[in-house]
Amino acid sequence: MFRKMTVKDVDLKGKRVFCRVDFNVPLDKQGAITDDTRIVAALPTIRYILEQGGRLVLASHLGRPKGAPQAEFSLAPAARRLGELLGRPVIMAPDCVGAEVRALADGLQDGQVLMLENVRFHPGETKNDAEFSRQLAALADVYVNDAFGTAHRAHASTEGVARLLQPAVAGFLIEKELQYLGQALTDPARPFVAVLGGAKVSDKLPAIENLLGKVDTLLIGGGMAYTFLKAKGYSLGNSLVEEEQIDLAGRLMQEAARRGVELLLPEDHVAAAAFQADAEHRICTNADFPAGWMGLDIGPETVARYSRVLAGAGTVVWNGPMGVFEFDAFAVGTFAVARALAESKAVSIIGGGDSAAAAKKSGLAERMTHISTGGGASLEFLEGKELPGITILTDK
Ligand code: 3PG
Repeated sequence: MFRKMTVKDVDLKGKRVFCRVDFNVPLDKQGAITDDTRIVAALPTIRYILEQGGRLVLASHLGRPKGAPQAEFSLAPAARRLGELLGRPVIMAPDCVGAEVRALADGLQDGQVLMLENVRFHPGETKNDAEFSRQLAALADVYVNDAFGTAHRAHASTEGVARLLQPAVAGFLIEKELQYLGQALTDPARPFVAVLGGAKVSDKLPAIENLLGKVDTLLIGGGMAYTFLKAKGYSLGNSLVEEEQIDLAGRLMQEAARRGVELLLPEDHVAAAAFQADAEHRICTNADFPAGWMGLDIGPETVARYSRVLAGAGTVVWNGPMGVFEFDAFAVGTFAVARALAESKAVSIIGGGDSAAAAKKSGLAERMTHISTGGGASLEFLEGKELPGITILTDK
């Protein structure tokens, strides 16, 4: 159950509403948005605030500028895209604080939208500086956070301002994300299966530790599988192994066994002669892996086994690709997992970042129950950590 106040709990008519969104969208070299999912995902809250007669002040970061303006990290392209989606003008502010911005916010009429420039153009944002938070808070009467993707950051626009503008409420995207992710972790339809992949095991260890207390089955793929296989005594050529994590991987497998959690590792692989899109490659097993080659995808036996598990699952949480899906030759395992999920009756929840990108690239995104807009945020949630941008919101 979502226990925070939401936009529905506050009177927005005629109010200046500071709404933190996550418009940290990918841009190409020409500055054009290549994926507007995060902007589209914020539309229900934005439209609601405007329909209620709110005067909307939108804030976001984009990229990681080092506390100073950098043209390539401007939010102007996001403001333009939002204007197209809303079918109404979005005023682009020259900055996010200062007298000129204050005048723009104060001059808003009911139903008008002002997009602030990138909050990370000021060092006070990531430092969660009190004075910078105060300057942001001065632009509005009400605080709404709908930036799920940034909820794991205790920054001025996600945490500091929420302390100053009370009540601080959640938007619909945050509410929806927490409903799906929260339900999966607290009351999942069983069997509850987690699929974890990605290159580095060190990125996923805290999530594995937390999930071992919750899931029935853990399917492991991607580069991280090789550290587990090494801990089991397999030597898989030049496949990626984090030597310093081998012991911990071994202990986690013991812990899984102790808890009765089925932890599955790949039995076969697409092995490649080099880390290249056009590298020579062939299928091989744990037992006959060629010296000097590296595993870049799970093999067909593993795909079949994992697909059977997913077909019978009640809930699936998926974070991290099964192989180097950016290269077509090594995308088969990842797309097969996406297909198995699409065809399964399970509630399917995809962590953001790479897995969301893979689900989209597979063409099956529409068939997932929920694709999170947060990469780091959804992973920290799976780790069982508190998200500061949510914790600070006012309880119902
Ligand atoms: C993300 O893309 O994961 C969020 O927008 C957070 O960005 P950050 O990792 O730069 O804080």
